[in-house]
Amino acid sequence: MTQANVFKSEGDVNLSPRRRAWAARNINRETQELLDADARYFLHQALSTPCLNVLSGCDGAGITDLQGRRALDFHGNCVHQAGFGNPKVIAAVVKQMQELSFCPRRYTNRPAIALAKKLVELAPGDLQRVLFAPSGAVAISIALQLARAATGRHKTVSLWDSFHGATLDAISVGGEAFFRRGNGPLLPGCEHVPPPDPRHCPFACGNACNLKCADYIEYVLEKEGDVAAVIGETIRAAPFIPPPDYWKKVRAACDRHGALLILDEIPHCLGRTGRMFTCEHYDVVPDILVLGKGLGGGIMPLAGLIAREHLNVAGDRALGHFTHEKSPVAAAAALATLQFIEEENILHHVRTLGEKTLQRLREMKDHHPLIGDVRGLGLMLGVELTRDRTTMQRAEDEAERVMYACLEAGLNFKVTMGNILTLTPPLTITDAEMDTAMAILDKAIGEVESQPAL
Ligand SMILES: Cc1ncc(COP(=O)(O)O)c(C=O)c1O
Repeated sequence: MTQANVFKSEGDVNLSPRRRAWAARNINRETQELLDADARYFLHQALSTPCLNVLSGCDGAGITDLQGRRALDFHGNCVHQAGFGNPKVIAAVVKQMQELSFCPRRYTNRPAIALAKKLVELAPGDLQRVLFAPSGAVAISIALQLARAATGRHKTVSLWDSFHGATLDAISVGGEAFFRRGNGPLLPGCEHVPPPDPRHCPFACGNACNLKCADYIEYVLEKEGDVAAVIGETIRAAPFIPPPDYWKKVRAACDRHGALLILDEIPHCLGRTGRMFTCEHYDVVPDILVLGKGLGGGIMPLAGLIAREHLNVAGDRALGHFTHEKSPVAAAAALATLQFIEEENILHHVRTLGEKTLQRLREMKDHHPLIGDVRGLGLMLGVELTRDRTTMQRAEDEAERVMYACLEAGLNFKVTMGNILTLTPPLTITDAEMDTAMAILDKAIGEVESQPAL
């Protein structure tokens, strides 16, 4: 399976026949005219443009298209920790826009300070110093520069298959061929190692990871001798969940070899895994924790990093020199989001509903041969479709058919690596909405199993 195939169904100019058939059944003239205008004025790019459909609204757990059809959104680019259009976040944004809508550099403002203080209070260990950024990739870029400034080194070790954003430096440390290819020379000194994924493990550890991959990171750190940082996603969004001791081993290796540990929690910070920060599951404190996506309440673009106190060493540089670096409006959105998560006890909800849903998916696996594996942490869930549970041959065509069947029945999600149904619902989703979504998924998989391929 090449990465190019993965994305065909998601927005390449060469639209898949299934996508065209879906559009023919579901898109009316008004929507088509807007899609045509979008395709006319935006640069075309894989994964988005030309677009699938036009939205007119989003609230709570769902999105509504121009033709009035609502779908539960189990994708949401992982911004919907507080649900879509959360009234408390909107109210905070509106109030802040009326009071102080922008803060030029060299000035600061109450919401930005309050947000930095709140994040430091919430973060584990001695993560004490904050910088904000307008996107996750930019926050990664700042983290890389900070690691260089603090260590006087430039090399990084990161994981194949990982994603850290789509800018040139982020794809240099990222490990997805799809993003890396065709760019010419990437950043020098970016070394990649195998991720903790037992099924595709070059160390042949079988289904139970023996942490050889973590040992290998130490091997590379020792051989190189001058690595600035190891950077990884605490868990990958598909999801791929490293074994319990993985990050502890990597942390210890970093400490022994003078490298910083940067953990990217952009898609799952603020509760998606049932803890405020995913590294808390691993009992590990990174040197730099990178946040994003839902931090802006699903409304404002906002990312950032929290660094350990000893990294406050670059006062003579301008690492976070971005126009919206202390946006009062984005900070107000983030503060309202954090308040909502705490007041509504969202973490508890995520843990209980996440466990219940994972159990439900396991039961589905019992009666659907098409399901090769299910896994998850909190409300970051994945259903891997395979043609054979022994060889784990990817069921890519089937995954696309399930995705379109679900879309037609009112459930939106993304397919990762061609065959992993990646389910990241809003954290505010009710038990009843989850029941509806699971019923749609169950039925769609059953239909695909019972129908021969087109
Ligand atoms: C793990 C991870 N890191 C970084 C990013 C980049 O964030 P942004 O799209 O805000 O630049 C993403 C976005 O999907 C992500 O999933």
